[in-house]
Amino acid sequence: MRNFEWGKQHEVFLTQIDAEHRDLFRIADGLEKAVASQATAEVKDHLSTLIAHAEEHFLHEEWLMESVKYSAYGWHKQQHNTARKRLKLFAPLVESGESEAAELLLEFLDGWLQDHICVTDRMMGAYVRNYERATATNALERWGEPLPVKSSRGRTTTARNG
Ligand SMILES: [Fe+2]
Repeated sequence: MRNFEWGKQHEVFLTQIDAEHRDLFRIADGLEKAVASQATAEVKDHLSTLIAHAEEHFLHEEWLMESVKYSAYGWHKQQHNTARKRLKLFAPLVESGESEAAELLLEFLDGWLQDHICVTDRMMGAYVRNYERATATNALERWGEPLPVKSSRGRTTTARNG
């Protein structure tokens, strides 16, 4: 049975990343409810919100991993790319009202969120925390605030290079 509820088992102990994960679970839960009630407009809304928030979140994590020279960056990013491709592939089908596509996407999201957060993101969290202890820095000191956000042109900017 699917469960889009954030729990302690998903905690990676990085405040912003945990907040973004909670947000993704909340949006996925909304998408599941909209699909179940066949509310086409709501399905579209939740799906586009999910895609936008997921992309921003992936970019945050990728930026964070680069900033600590994380050795498993490529493996981690590959998993993000799998989710990106799946969302891109399924979005038009779900938007056109194909209920089977919506079910397949929800199944994928359920498994992917559990596996990716509980293993891959937790490993990243442990590495980042150790890096910050060893170098006595935190993310804001490394790059300057605020965290990078996607511009309207889809490019990532930060206070330092933007
Ligand atoms: Fe991740």
